[in-house]
Amino acid sequence: MCGIIGYIGKREALPILLEGLKRLEYRGYDSAGVCVSAQGLTTVRSPGKIKNLEEKLAGRSLSASVGIGHTRWATHGPPVEKNTHPHADCHGRLSLVHNGIIENYSELRRKLESQGHVFSSDTDTETLAHLIEQLLSDGASDLPSAVRAALKQVRGTYGLAVISQDYPDVIVVARLGSPIVLGIGDGESFVASDASAILGHTRRVVFLDDGEMATLTGDGYQVRSLDDSPIQKTPEEVDWSDEQAQKNGQPHFMLKEMLEQPDVVRNSLRGRLDLGDGLAVLGGLRDVADRLRQIDRLIIVACGSAYYAGLVGEYMIEANAGVPVEVELGSEFRYRKPIITPQTAVLAISQSGETADTLAALREAKMKGALTLGIVNAVGSTIARETDAGVYNHAGPEVGVASTKAFVSQLTVLALLTLFLGRQRQMSVTYGNKLAQELLHLPDMIQKILDQRQNIELLAKRWAGASDMLYLGRNYLAPIAFEGALKLKEVSYIHAEGYAAGEMKHGPIALIDPGFPCLVMCPEDSLYEKTKSNIQELKARGGPIIALTTEDNQEVSQFADDVIFMSKTIEMLQPILSVIPLQLFAYYVAVSKGFDPDKPRNLAKSVTVE
Ligand code: M6R
Repeated sequence: MCGIIGYIGKREALPILLEGLKRLEYRGYDSAGVCVSAQGLTTVRSPGKIKNLEEKLAGRSLSASVGIGHTRWATHGPPVEKNTHPHADCHGRLSLVHNGIIENYSELRRKLESQGHVFSSDTDTETLAHLIEQLLSDGASDLPSAVRAALKQVRGTYGLAVISQDYPDVIVVARLGSPIVLGIGDGESFVASDASAILGHTRRVVFLDDGEMATLTGDGYQVRSLDDSPIQKTPEEVDWSDEQAQKNGQPHFMLKEMLEQPDVVRNSLRGRLDLGDGLAVLGGLRDVADRLRQIDRLIIVACGSAYYAGLVGEYMIEANAGVPVEVELGSEFRYRKPIITPQTAVLAISQSGETADTLAALREAKMKGALTLGIVNAVGSTIARETDAGVYNHAGPEVGVASTKAFVSQLTVLALLTLFLGRQRQMSVTYGNKLAQELLHLPDMIQKILDQRQNIELLAKRWAGASDMLYLGRNYLAPIAFEGALKLKEVSYIHAEGYAAGEMKHGPIALIDPGFPCLVMCPEDSLYEKTKSNIQELKARGGPIIALTTEDNQEVSQFADDVIFMSKTIEMLQPILSVIPLQLFAYYVAVSKGFDPDKPRNLAKSVTVE
């Protein structure tokens, strides 16, 4: 995944940039580059490892005290030199590095080309350099004003750092959906996408929030909003180790990534909802929109948590978009004889985009003539490249082996896909709008659950001694029961089973006794009474109950041993909230048993073998 570093001060910039890039290597990348500003800008870029870049730099004297650097993970265009950041305008007078995706880059590029701009890469990022150049030549008063005006025209996400030979004393930076941290030194300033890149130089940092821009000089920084209002931000001292910096100060990646989930949902939704017409605007599906209108069946292929996300997607899409859906495990799909017609679309869901079983299923579907789609987090991954069209999660890198934020983002994108397919069919504009509005409320609702994490921790400690657990839910929440049980198994090694609540009496109830706790999702939804009856059946056998219900419900506490509350949303979106307490519960059980949830035994983050 991409990384940004920048320096302005009195020291030689280049060694600082290279060291910063090396500290960002853990995020993964496929090319790297730097641009320094002395008398004019000098850019050196190279595909491959940072040592290739160093070899290109060897013997060159690039004395400068301002510069930016970048590690790129290819998205738009292959990892070759011309696509490596930093990118420049037509005349090489400004240079920038960017993390994120400019979704409307094709429109912007067409317009800029018609104005005479000559592009030299396949990237979305280069568009920004030309747009800023154009705005400066149209009369923008200075570099920050031109960057601000450019960002107002952009749809997408960015963490951005810009330098210019005409404004040699500043680095202009901005953030929307992709992290930016400023480092404040003595007569020098730094910028990075990740604090670990700069903590060797300063521990005084300012984290930009979405919608904020900053102008960095050797003497300090100024933060303003995109609307140009001043924002006061006081530096904080961080005493994190390098490893802690990568975890944003949290003890584990798993917790850091769970805490990121409100932003993850915001990023997955960003620029993708048209509230007036109640539509999902999915740029990655634009070219296949007509074919999607014709499909009469969708097959979802995925593994593990992504498969469970697919099961939730089946409930969402069938009930709200009216398209028949089947969900298949990647490992099973290609050994069956799947029936694929020209009206079948096959959707692969994968965080890594590299899971061998999902990829094999996708290739099989493609060979049989299906339209292939992807919901993928790792931009530029094999599945992303091999599908005909798709939607990126924009969840950011997920390091924790147990999937948390990627899963929540997969559900969010599936909700967007439901809206997209539904509005192509019978879904009304009124319902489309309701769904869109409700999606926008999710980040705050997730935050409310995260804010209860101390209670969930206490509860987890209370139940950590169990040797088995049963997770139950109905309808949209049945797959969340599977996912909750998987989370607990993965990180705490407690045997756990997920069941559709109504299925429990067909077998698993035989296991229930006072030593076998059940976590039951029981929101006040259309099946509330039925789930309540299941709880009574468990109680009658002495089974302890942890219930997850919607806030204001007083009733469930009367028969559950412990209750967790969440906000109520429309039924289709309730799984996005319901999984959060289950993730936290699994995490805290693991920690209280002394296990490291980031390193579950026998598991790999990306399973690239069959
Ligand atoms: O990268 P993918 O989404 O394709 O990975 C699929 C599964 O391997 C993954 O979800 C796995 O089940 C996780 N460990 C779950 O926490």
